[in-house]
Amino acid sequence: MNKAKRKTVIAGNWKMNKTPVEAAQLIYDINDKISKMDTKGCDIIACVPFVDIDAAVKAADGTDIKIGAENCHWAKSGAFTGEISADMLKACGVEYVIIGHSERRQYFGETDLTVNQRLHAALDAGLKVILCVGELLEQREQGITEEIVSMQTKIALLNVTEEQMKNIIIAYEPVWAIGTGKTATAEQADEVCGIIRKVIANLYSKKTAEATTIQYGGSMNAKNAKELLSMENVDGGLIGGASLKAEDFSIIIQAAQ
Ligand code: PGA
Repeated sequence: MNKAKRKTVIAGNWKMNKTPVEAAQLIYDINDKISKMDTKGCDIIACVPFVDIDAAVKAADGTDIKIGAENCHWAKSGAFTGEISADMLKACGVEYVIIGHSERRQYFGETDLTVNQRLHAALDAGLKVILCVGELLEQREQGITEEIVSMQTKIALLNVTEEQMKNIIIAYEPVWAIGTGKTATAEQADEVCGIIRKVIANLYSKKTAEATTIQYGGSMNAKNAKELLSMENVDGGLIGGASLKAEDFSIIIQAAQ
């Protein structure tokens, strides 16, 4: 496997944080930091709450920061109170959307099947997807991490063509590492990202597996990013807490160069 064949992607997941005014300020602050750096080594994305999209898109205009959303619905439109369609996101200038985050699965009843439906809606609307998979602590302790992550990946990618894989990033996010300060070791992250890459190779081809960006997410921060990102199968990070601080986020971006 050749890491040079794929793009490193550093993405922030802001979760339920920041008002539109604060969102614009954070984008300005991040841009201020990264405009002094050579960032050619990676793509930079900020995935923001729906209500912040307009402010974030405007603030990021003319910068290297791309804007993503944190979820989308599977239908084009209709009676789905409180939901947002992929077409609506696209119309607002969004380029990326996170699908299947473990917080959606844990707290909002998201299933592997709805993850697959939402992923198709996003691709059909012309959005790029950051697909999240990852095991619970009990599952790791039971020794079924490989089975769980492989199953989540396969179901999420049902009926996704090899061509469409060009628009999909996968984020391996062990649930026990998210927001807990308990990071997977670089070896654990590399191992599971490698397992996901094998699933892609079996579903599609070695070429597509080698070209697919697979991120690690879960308490990645300014201190541990360099080691995690140096691993063969870890092609970037999906960062929650540390993406809310321009200083820390820019150190992670620097570590990806
Ligand atoms: P964290 O979140 O970096 O705060 O652990 C990561 C994520 O949920 O994507």
